[in-house]
Amino acid sequence: MKNEIEEQYKYMEKIAKINEDKQLTYAIYTMGCQLNENDSEKICGMLENMGYHKTDEVKQADFVVFNTCCVRENAEDKLFGKIGEMKRQKEERGTILAIGGCMMQEKHIVDKLHKSYPFVDIIFGTHTLHKLPEDTYHILEKRNKIEDVIDIDGQIYEGLPIKRNDNSKASVTIMYGCNNFCTYCIVPYVRGRERSRKPSDILQEIKDLANEGYKEITLLGQNVNSYDGGDGYKFSNLLYDVNKIEGIEKIRFVSPHPKDFKDDVIKAIYDCDKVSKIIHLPLQSGSTKVLKEMNRRYTKEQYLELVEKMRKSIPNVVFSTDIIVGFPGETEEDFEDTLDVVKKVNFEQVFMFIYSRRVGTVADKMENQIPEEVKHERFDRLKALVESQIEENNKKYIGTVQKVLVEGKSKNNENMLTGRTDSNKVVIFEGKEEWINKVIELKIVSEHMWYLKGEI
Ligand code: 5AD
Ligand code: SF4
Repeated sequence: MKNEIEEQYKYMEKIAKINEDKQLTYAIYTMGCQLNENDSEKICGMLENMGYHKTDEVKQADFVVFNTCCVRENAEDKLFGKIGEMKRQKEERGTILAIGGCMMQEKHIVDKLHKSYPFVDIIFGTHTLHKLPEDTYHILEKRNKIEDVIDIDGQIYEGLPIKRNDNSKASVTIMYGCNNFCTYCIVPYVRGRERSRKPSDILQEIKDLANEGYKEITLLGQNVNSYDGGDGYKFSNLLYDVNKIEGIEKIRFVSPHPKDFKDDVIKAIYDCDKVSKIIHLPLQSGSTKVLKEMNRRYTKEQYLELVEKMRKSIPNVVFSTDIIVGFPGETEEDFEDTLDVVKKVNFEQVFMFIYSRRVGTVADKMENQIPEEVKHERFDRLKALVESQIEENNKKYIGTVQKVLVEGKSKNNENMLTGRTDSNKVVIFEGKEEWINKVIELKIVSEHMWYLKGEI
């Protein structure tokens, strides 16, 4: 594995020589989840090593990468539209165009790219991301189109360069792939089976981040609590070890699976002072019948019991979740079960999704698909409930003192700073720039649906 990466470094060096003094730029467009964002940071790292500099002006870029996602909705049309727009730029500037990520693991997409967009230079999948330098080299040398997608479970490659998006918060992927095969989900097909990184590699990466001044770490995986570091080293062990790293002040993780949420992890969350007490616990549906059809392997009652157990074991614990509405066969009664769980748990944050058929999944073949208007109507009802709960929850913050990691200037108001509470709520406040990247205490003075206002 090491050799393979050393090989890629050689290609990066060769390309950097070719590109020397040319002032070339790249632009990247990332779709989807935090894992994809983290992959994109590695793509940026490789491109920088090859002598390209980042630009937000796609039209000016000499190298354009699309890192795609196929988890939900028909992002395909949007992607194809964007690729179509690139044709002229390619002809005029000779821009290199690379399309990668999850969607490229789907045969029907790659076929369409070949047929309708033959000008795309590089097509790479989720298991061949690390080979971007090699693929680029061949494009520069021969200008031949390259398809570099493999359908086996990829290896874990350590040591790729990385250019991070943020200076205080960093994501660290701890495992790749998923073994769960929830019936609606395409991920196991495009990301392969679960593979965990070695504990020593993960801990070294986080120590390096701490030395660079990073304060907050998010551990990423499709199912983090089935992390298996070998020799009995589990996710809870990792939490204890990351908690010991000096300089790191906050640890988050996404996503765990409720069926794998064992007592050792609950205890670790309690024991480790740096581990955030907002737990993302994907519900998907509150109906035991639908959960069974989704192959989630827990019931409504088991989910609620797990929440209760965590509330008893971890003072001040709160939850966020993912919910899908309109899964095939979901009746009004099933949907009301979902609303019931939402009422009972009182989530801090709910990521709501309308069920979207994914080619190749079990649920796509189910006959009892729900009409679009029913899905939308249920989505709106869920949204109204969630928003009313968030408003109620926000009121509880007023007058309290919250520890906040200051992230930077507010995007909407240059004169204000923004940060997040331990429970991941956005707080806006007046302050000095030197507070950026520090943890400070703020008194919450008012609430607004999507943020709180604080004062030092
Ligand atoms: N349709 C709608 N939502 C989906 N998710 C995954 N697959 C689908 C799909 N086919 C949602 C789940 C998951 C989140 C990342 O995306 O809620 O937790
Ligand atoms: Fe998809 Fe389920 Fe795996 Fe999550 S656990 S990635 S929803 S199959």
